[in-house]
Amino acid sequence: MPDAPKITPENNLLADLERRRAEARLGGGEKRIAKQHEKGKLTARERLDVLLDDGSFRELGTFVRHQHHGFGLEHNRPYGDGVVTGHGTINGRLVYVFSQDFTVFGGSLGLAHAHKITRLMNLAMENGAPLIGLNDSGGARIQEGVDSLGGYADIFLLNTLASGVVPQISAVMGPCAGGAVYSPAITDFVFMVQGSSYMFVTGPNVVKTVTQEDVTAEALGGAEAHATKSGVCHVVAHNDVDCLLKIRELFDFIPQNCEDPPPHAATDDLPDRADEALDTIVPANPNKPYEMREVIRLVVDDGRFFEIHADYAPNILVGFAHLGGRSVGVVANNPAVLAGVLDLSSGVKGARFVRFCDAFNIPLVVFEDVPGFLPGTDQEWRGVIRHGAKLLYAFCEATVPKITVITRKAYGGAYDVMNSKHIRGDLNFAWPTAEIAVMGPQGAVEIIYRKQIDEAEDPDATKARFIEEYKNKFANPYIAAERGYIDDVIAPRSTRRRLIDGLEMLRNKVVNNPRKKHGNIPL
Ligand code: HXC
Repeated sequence: MPDAPKITPENNLLADLERRRAEARLGGGEKRIAKQHEKGKLTARERLDVLLDDGSFRELGTFVRHQHHGFGLEHNRPYGDGVVTGHGTINGRLVYVFSQDFTVFGGSLGLAHAHKITRLMNLAMENGAPLIGLNDSGGARIQEGVDSLGGYADIFLLNTLASGVVPQISAVMGPCAGGAVYSPAITDFVFMVQGSSYMFVTGPNVVKTVTQEDVTAEALGGAEAHATKSGVCHVVAHNDVDCLLKIRELFDFIPQNCEDPPPHAATDDLPDRADEALDTIVPANPNKPYEMREVIRLVVDDGRFFEIHADYAPNILVGFAHLGGRSVGVVANNPAVLAGVLDLSSGVKGARFVRFCDAFNIPLVVFEDVPGFLPGTDQEWRGVIRHGAKLLYAFCEATVPKITVITRKAYGGAYDVMNSKHIRGDLNFAWPTAEIAVMGPQGAVEIIYRKQIDEAEDPDATKARFIEEYKNKFANPYIAAERGYIDDVIAPRSTRRRLIDGLEMLRNKVVNNPRKKHGNIPL
């Protein structure tokens, strides 16, 4: 005789499980959920529904509760402890995700809450899959004191250890204040929602007390402030759904971990599509701007460029695209803003992106039109040397396939920095419109021919003659090409074909850096 089943209609074990599950799903209750919706925000679970493939979410730690006493906590022990954790898929690929539940203790982080997150982080590292954090939290749970602070520190440590092992993505979808900001800050990409999210180390009240400044939370640390001024935010979203869909889109370009290849994206865009518009995109007048985003769109698969940091340091563009189905990281000077000059913000922006791509085996494609570094006391005193060195260091250090296309200016130190062959750029191409020189004609002539110009009968005419001479000699790509610093001068319309062929040629590239504990990038 088989044993009688343990689960029976009489003992209601399954019904009991369902009741507990329903309780866990309800989080902080209907009233608080309604309040969340009134603010235009989705709940923690609704967010997971949008982020992940339908029905793929598997929750872990559903019944975790805090074990604290005091301040009334012993009578208030909701299941889940203010964070929903688990795994699911995005386009069929495994991801680990935590989603803070603002309806439970304001999403604040106590010890149990922190342990649920660190468990996921360990799983992400052990199983080589990305970690996504949906942050919506009042910060350290005040009632749990130092346990909350310790919980945050546990997360910071694992964020750091996971850096470069698996991609880490943070969405800030509500408050994120105090030391809590440092977990997203360590991760690879920070997405923020306009109007409902903010990040700051100290809020408006403390700011008012200390500096007498009157500032709103939105102005101090909203999405716009961090996307344009501080550079903390990489991607701005209009609302929760937009934010979650943008995170899904990022997955079209990034791999699972530092050893897997990036995803291949099938396309009908033929490799030898030659866009004639590229031939005329560089204006005849070297001082006239043009939009480098347009060049990128004309070259890459289906014109699709997923831009990162679009509103921060827009004189340099960084983002992802596909070429012949391969994921690439694009770094490009943009002559439409500040003539595409390098300054300290663009140095930091470019360097961080190059290092992400290098860490995750995403080849780099550089479009170069750069008149040099931005001069002036403001830049020098704020450290353009130190910050510019970051970009130089990042390109030097990177071992992924690296290809540069010089469309127009490649002047001075910026020529070296923008992935020249001298710093291990694998292929450097130039358009016939390229000008590769120590500096522009005007400045160069004023230095090397100053005496002759001053002593000339007609200084203006003499200067013009010297400028013409200088242009003829240097304002072209052929001197560099003669020396092999440029691999080929190419018709702009053939750029797509040459890049795709170059990436194919470099697909098995292996270059190792010297053995060391770690380098010391100028921070
Ligand atoms: C415990 C908290 C909480 C917290 C909010 N709640 N923050 N509970 N610890 N840190 C609870 C509230 O008591 C309330 O509970 C519910 O969450 C919603 O909060 P409200 O204030 O009603 O919501 P709202 O008006 O939208 O304001 C949200 C808020 C505010 C701006 C986040 O709650 C706030 O200022 N909280 C404190 C933020 C803060 O200073 N945190 C510490 C930061 S320092 P009920 O039961 O009424 O729903 C930090 C250090 C990190 O985090 C350490 C790393 C090293």
